[in-house]
Amino acid sequence: MNILTVVGARPNFMKAAPLVHRLRERGHEAPLIHTGQHYDANMSKVFFDDLRMPEPDEYLGVGSGSHAAQTARVMVEIERVLLERKPDMVVVLGDVNSTVACSLTATKLWIPVAHVEAGLRSRDRRMPEEINRLVTDAISDLLFTPSRDGDANLLAEGVDADKIHFVGNIMIDSLVTHLERAGESDACSRVGVEPGGFGVMTLHRPSNVDDPKTLAGILGAVAEVSQTLPIVFPCHPRTVARLESDATISKILEASSILRVEPLGYLDFLRLVSQCALVITDSGGLQEETTFLKIPCVTARENTERPVTTEVGTNTIVGTDPDKILAASRAGIERGVGHGDVPELWDGNTAARIVDVFERIS
Ligand code: UD1
Repeated sequence: MNILTVVGARPNFMKAAPLVHRLRERGHEAPLIHTGQHYDANMSKVFFDDLRMPEPDEYLGVGSGSHAAQTARVMVEIERVLLERKPDMVVVLGDVNSTVACSLTATKLWIPVAHVEAGLRSRDRRMPEEINRLVTDAISDLLFTPSRDGDANLLAEGVDADKIHFVGNIMIDSLVTHLERAGESDACSRVGVEPGGFGVMTLHRPSNVDDPKTLAGILGAVAEVSQTLPIVFPCHPRTVARLESDATISKILEASSILRVEPLGYLDFLRLVSQCALVITDSGGLQEETTFLKIPCVTARENTERPVTTEVGTNTIVGTDPDKILAASRAGIERGVGHGDVPELWDGNTAARIVDVFERIS
């Protein structure tokens, strides 16, 4: 088969890598197209290197912009690619703007769409990703779910059961494949922390970082946590801009043991997360990675589209209330690492299961 995979933003890369490898290994034509939604070297190229991903066959260079502008640019560019390449199937991953743009475009060209990481729902329509998930799932032909709640959500929305395939979490394929290599990373010593003696924080959701009061509240709580546990803070470009434009926030950071660093590559970041005592985040993927690694995770969001990470995993959803962030962080440090269970089929073999489905239906 000719199965074309589209990636655009950082969380796509670790999901696409195992699938593209597996497709090519099994003799399929598997072109890889990069929309260019993320373009900085440390948001994109480093992941291709770390994950040993093949170079993209085409780079569309759409870049940043408003949601409408970015989505529209991806649609125009990918339409040309799809008309030229005429794939049998298009694979889209996750919930970023590139995902919804490509699924919309492909489906109108009558090219079947497979959505990897289907069925997740936060039920918060103010989140752009929730809109991307709803639209993509509504028009995709194959829906690959990472957890059973995904199947239940899709069935409740009236999706035909034949389209839904519970295959597990493909991001864990990358984690399992690269965890040992990540052990060779010197990220801990470069940042100046001892394995086991630090926490990691990431923040990039517009709802958390765009309002200075909300951001200052979160950082104030984390600054307090950092008095007992230094917190490494790899900073997304969106967040950097916000930190630097607010004097109160600069002061909080200066007086804390929050160690701000550039966005990190896949191996360096995996090394840090696998060696840390606590994660504070608003990322979706990190809720899953910490669950697999059994590291306590405090999620600074009001909801999660990944409930399995709170049911069997290590994740606590606390919103942005500073007192709750502080209390949950202290509880996580107290509880320690190694608790919780790994969800069903988060075993490193999800890409193979997806290719099995493609081969069965071809
Ligand atoms: C996007 C995804 C989000 C995902 C996140 C991971 C959507 C709607 N959002 O959010 O789901 O969790 O990626 O990072 O698709 N920028 C750079 N360099 C880059 C990329 C971005 O400087 O390489 C800056 C630009 O100022 C840009 C801003 O970051 O405007 C936001 O980038 P964008 O891709 O629009 O959304 P993210 O916040 O990264």
